[in-house]
Amino acid sequence: MKAIVQDAYGPADVLELRDVDRPSISDDEVLVEVRAAGVDPGVWILMTGRPYLMRVMGFGLRRPKVPVRGRDVAGVVAAVGARVTRFRPGQEVYGTCESGSFAEYASAPQGRLAPKPAGLSFEQAAAVPVSGMTALQSVRDCGRVRPGQRVMVIGASGGVGSFAVQIATASGARVTGVCGAAKSDLVRSLGAEDVIDYARDEIDRDGARYDVVIDTAGNRPLSLLRRALTPRGTLVIVGGGHARYPLSGGFERQLRAPLVSMFAGQRLRGLTARERAEDLEELGRLIESGAVTPVIDRAYPLAEASDAIHHLSEGHPAGKVVVTL
Ligand SMILES: NC(=O)c1ccc[n+]([C@@H]2O[C@H](COP(=O)([O-])OP(=O)(O)OC[C@H]3O[C@@H](n4cnc5c(N)ncnc54)[C@H](OP(=O)(O)O)[C@@H]3O)[C@@H](O)[C@H]2O)c1
Repeated sequence: MKAIVQDAYGPADVLELRDVDRPSISDDEVLVEVRAAGVDPGVWILMTGRPYLMRVMGFGLRRPKVPVRGRDVAGVVAAVGARVTRFRPGQEVYGTCESGSFAEYASAPQGRLAPKPAGLSFEQAAAVPVSGMTALQSVRDCGRVRPGQRVMVIGASGGVGSFAVQIATASGARVTGVCGAAKSDLVRSLGAEDVIDYARDEIDRDGARYDVVIDTAGNRPLSLLRRALTPRGTLVIVGGGHARYPLSGGFERQLRAPLVSMFAGQRLRGLTARERAEDLEELGRLIESGAVTPVIDRAYPLAEASDAIHHLSEGHPAGKVVVTL
């Protein structure tokens, strides 16, 4: 099969379109014929091997252990392992895969897939898994957003942020999005009632008024983030600005947050998103109800996957970038 493969960490030109073997599947896995694959900052991290912290976390010290890039997948079930009960060949699915989704076929554990939501194209479905699950867990689990609360989403026009704005709005919250001026209309169209242009104003412009702040961008210090929160508010640190911190990716904010939280009235949390079928199914329900619609910035053919990653790495996508097959 054709796949986007790398033999070493580095910039986008380490990626090559090559013929490789189809992935084999174990008893609990599903072989998916890939129709579209999502691109997210995790793909860039695995391509470059930066921040270096990820190498010692088991992804490969000198080169990536899995040579094919891509995690989000949408496609058609080609074969199932002996113990797979939830899927059958021919079914349209979406989710995350272990073997790399920038390829004609990908293997995924059945617990990381769900039926593709009705009405979504493969392109749209591939945009959902990593970013959508991260946003859902930020709003629902970490943020515990309730109707009527004021929620700020920093990086509101990006992959995670565009889902977080819609999910918080669907939860009944009043959302303020932080984004560049060019994305203000997009973020309002997703449900935000107010927008802060980060080039003009800082996030504490309106004082301590937010019950929940979800931070996906910019790597602002904890002290500044806390100034936008009410005295009992909740901060959810998703990520942001990792390219500026080659060793740690800025991860220390995530580590410090719960420590500071022990001495503050505010709840400060770092999110580590989990990939699970139940959350894909919940996202599917939100999508089918019309509450959430994936925003596609650009789609690239498989042979141009390195351009897709380069575009994302510039840091200003309007929603999601996808690769199509
Ligand atoms: N914790 C986890 O488990 C987890 C899971 C998934 C992702 N992440 C991390 O979350 C972060 C966001 O991911 P993503 O997929 O949403 O990235 P993305 O699609 O690249 O979006 C980033 C957004 O940040 C905005 N931005 C850039 N500079 C900003 C600033 N100074 N202030 C406010 N907004 C700014 C950009 O909007 P403009 O164009 O308007 O500038 C862009 O749309 C990444 O660091 C990623 O690694 C963490």
